[in-house]
Amino acid sequence: MTNGPVTQRITDRRPGLMARPFGEGRTMLDKSVATTKSFSSRDLRDALSSFATGVTIVTGVDGKGDPVGMTVSSFNSVSMEPPLVLWSVTKTALSAPAFKDAKNFAVHVLASDQMDLSNRFAKSGQDKFEGLNIQFNDSGIPVLDGALTRFDCRMWATYEGGDHWIIVGEVESMVSQSGEGLVFCGGSYATASSIRGAAMTTDEDNGPIESLLIYNLARAHTQMGANFHEAVAEAGLSVPQWRILASLFGMKTRTLADMVRRTFVSPRKLHNLLQDMHAEGLLTFTEADGRGSVSGTLAGQKRVEHLFELGKKQEEEALAGAASGELEQLLVVLKRIIAQT
Ligand SMILES: Cc1cc2nc3c(=O)[nH]c(=O)nc-3n(C[C@H](O)[C@H](O)[C@H](O)COP(=O)(O)O)c2cc1C
Repeated sequence: MTNGPVTQRITDRRPGLMARPFGEGRTMLDKSVATTKSFSSRDLRDALSSFATGVTIVTGVDGKGDPVGMTVSSFNSVSMEPPLVLWSVTKTALSAPAFKDAKNFAVHVLASDQMDLSNRFAKSGQDKFEGLNIQFNDSGIPVLDGALTRFDCRMWATYEGGDHWIIVGEVESMVSQSGEGLVFCGGSYATASSIRGAAMTTDEDNGPIESLLIYNLARAHTQMGANFHEAVAEAGLSVPQWRILASLFGMKTRTLADMVRRTFVSPRKLHNLLQDMHAEGLLTFTEADGRGSVSGTLAGQKRVEHLFELGKKQEEEALAGAASGELEQLLVVLKRIIAQT
């Protein structure tokens, strides 16, 4: 970290910074931040992964005319006039020889919902095109559906680049559609909106509590639940009663123990609630040999039907701007927590 006085000095001199000769007012590198001169390939790879990129799939054909393709994040622009782009292919990729000698190739900039396609084309040696809807562009290159942008390229040059070939292509034609792009950073996929979402949280005065999952779960639940619980009350139900009826939705039959887990209402309170709700015809509750069994009824189901719809609508509002797949990922994480705690 830069220490206080140095920061102060630079700040004070800032207005004159442009006029000063090069070197004046420069500060020594902070020695407490270790710079790494000896590093492994793994270290380098990890360091490079801090650079967020888009994700593309480059397709072409091999010497036999068979389609080849691979996921590529090294894609970048080179020149506007002539229109040139580049990417690099590891020499160990099975499709490296095909791309190095290619006359043409196509670069597909992936959309945020094409994570599966990205993973498919990152697996070496598979028949990556199997089952996909492939068409061929004017140069006979296989092209894929759903990309945000596709650049149809003619080979311009290849360069030796250590363990990679650097491939420069001239863009002959391109096609784009609107949408959100897929991002790759730190070894994980992200989307522009998820990054925006993460940025939103930095607007606040974050304390250590902001990094605790349990706090964020409680806060999200409280904020999301406020309106929903009002609607539950309007339906003449308490929140535990809603949980009970929601757990029996679809006329399910469950054991008392299962209902305790699902509704997280204490056994004694649950018992009393079930008896009352049975009397109202909202469910049937039977007990035999010390074991309880609870079943949904049509009346109980009708009482909460609209709440499911409302819950879904509120969920959509709360997740506005989220990329496709984010909700599914969140549910996977939450279910893991539920299973493991
Ligand atoms: C997000 C992501 C980006 C990648 N970027 C590159 C890249 O720029 N260059 C490269 O050679 N491999 C890259 N790869 C790895 C290739 O996609 C992978 O090695 C591919 O399986 C090679 O296929 P092949 O051996 O069948 O030719 C990337 C993989 C992922 C998941």
